[in-house]
Amino acid sequence: MAAKPVAKRLVVLVSGSGTNLQALLDAIETTGAEAYGAEIVAVGADRAGIEGLARAERAGLPTFVCRVKDHGSREEWDRALAEAVAAYEPDLVVSAGFMKIVGKEFLARFGGRFVNTHPALLPSFPGAHGVRDALAYGARVTGCTVHFVDDGVDTGPIIAQGVVEIRDEDDESALHERIKEVERRLLVDVVGRLARNGYRIEGRKVVIQ
Ligand code: GAR
Repeated sequence: MAAKPVAKRLVVLVSGSGTNLQALLDAIETTGAEAYGAEIVAVGADRAGIEGLARAERAGLPTFVCRVKDHGSREEWDRALAEAVAAYEPDLVVSAGFMKIVGKEFLARFGGRFVNTHPALLPSFPGAHGVRDALAYGARVTGCTVHFVDDGVDTGPIIAQGVVEIRDEDDESALHERIKEVERRLLVDVVGRLARNGYRIEGRKVVIQ
């Protein structure tokens, strides 16, 4: 008899509205955790009072908040964040709109299994304003990138990308909404495939088995 599939454990980190988190929650609810390959075991944030945390609470998930300003230094915050995440023993950690750069300790523990989604086609337009920067540059296409996190800013190995055309009438908000429609589908697809199939990182290449 074939072994029963086991759902991988995900911790999701958010800083804002959490629509990418919601897409993961909906996919898991619809598909079932075992068939999808993963379940969310906790949601963490770097700030309180955000819709991303409210979504997690409505889904009955444990949440935690780890704020930089509650710690003596950025290193102490990084260590505390790593501890808070580790307490849930995740197989994968997903940064879904988490607007903080993690440090050495976090990467030492979760490097190679920390996935981020970014609203631009990396390596173009890294950083906190990927949508605004692509518009200001006059790019005609942009999109989203799901990648593993390394010690640079949005520089880690790319797993998958989605393309979105920029329209003449776009402002940052309209463009970001269209990117997020593509991004949510991409993130759900990528996280499920990583969890179900396993993967290897070979230099800059990610091979999903
Ligand atoms: C997403 O578009 C994500 O790519 C972006 O924040 C948005 C979060 O949306 N992240 C970054 O810009 C990271 N540099 P959500 O809270 O509705 O999921």
